[in-house]
Amino acid sequence: MNFNNKVIWITGASSGIGKALVASLAKQKCQLIISSRRLTDLENVKNAQPNPENIACVPFDLADYNSMSPIVEIAIGSFGKIDILINNGGFSQRSLIIETDIAVDKKLMEVDYLGTVALSKALLPYFVRQKSGQFVTVTSLMGKFSSPYRSGYCGAKHALHGFFDALRLEHEKDGISVTLICPGFVNTDIARHALIGNGKQQNTQDTATEKGLPVDVFTERMLKAVYKNKFEVYIGKKEVLGVFLKRFFPKFLHWYTLRSVVR
Ligand SMILES: NC(=O)c1ccc[n+]([C@@H]2O[C@H](COP(=O)([O-])OP(=O)(O)OC[C@H]3O[C@@H](n4cnc5c(N)ncnc54)[C@H](OP(=O)(O)O)[C@@H]3O)[C@@H](O)[C@H]2O)c1
Repeated sequence: MNFNNKVIWITGASSGIGKALVASLAKQKCQLIISSRRLTDLENVKNAQPNPENIACVPFDLADYNSMSPIVEIAIGSFGKIDILINNGGFSQRSLIIETDIAVDKKLMEVDYLGTVALSKALLPYFVRQKSGQFVTVTSLMGKFSSPYRSGYCGAKHALHGFFDALRLEHEKDGISVTLICPGFVNTDIARHALIGNGKQQNTQDTATEKGLPVDVFTERMLKAVYKNKFEVYIGKKEVLGVFLKRFFPKFLHWYTLRSVVR
């Protein structure tokens, strides 16, 4: 796994998976552009690495999906090029459909889907001119099958698969590739940051997330898939089997999920 001389842009880099990706990639001779909303946290992540001069912080809110072009210009200007965009920023949900304000569904689509799509569309003409580029998008196993308490999140993550599969087909001729990463449970603060039905943060950890893959184990496997230019990978523990059950035994998956629901 050699990312030497690459410029890699990572969103959601202030926490969890994004922060662990920065720690892993900063050991190589590559340059990183790191983004999220919280500049102070991004600067802390940057300054914790051995060569902080190889890292540029570009803070922005994925919900501002109408104004991505200036952000992309700033990012390209940071080190003069971009080779890989890792679309990792996003948030989850923990609430039943019937108790969820439509504003929560809207926010999930705005941040997890539209923000990611708008950022990628703003970078796309640059990748086309460059005749190369890799979009890596972190979706979820919840983008392949569903679970209670995550309806809007499942909707947004499923939608990302539709969009990026089309992008791969339209732009392979331009030297552009797409890698979709579908995590199962990974031990990060995602559950704490998840919104409940009234739009407030859950602020507590889930048992399943806590028992999930350690984040550094996850990012190691993820970076292997990025390096190998995989189309789509599923990274987790036994929950990964859900993808195959959904495809071949959907009624069994439904029955099993109802009996093992985790909030
Ligand atoms: N951990 C899991 O079990 C799991 C499972 C499946 C999929 N995933 C996916 O993995 C990705 C990373 O999640 P994580 O587990 O690392 O969670 P996390 O620790 O909560 O990190 C989420 C990151 O996204 C950023 N973010 C959230 N809202 C944003 C916004 N509106 N604009 C810009 N950045 C925003 C956050 O930074 P700021 O707050 O600074 O903006 C943070 O850096 C997400 O896409 C998530 O859906 C995670």
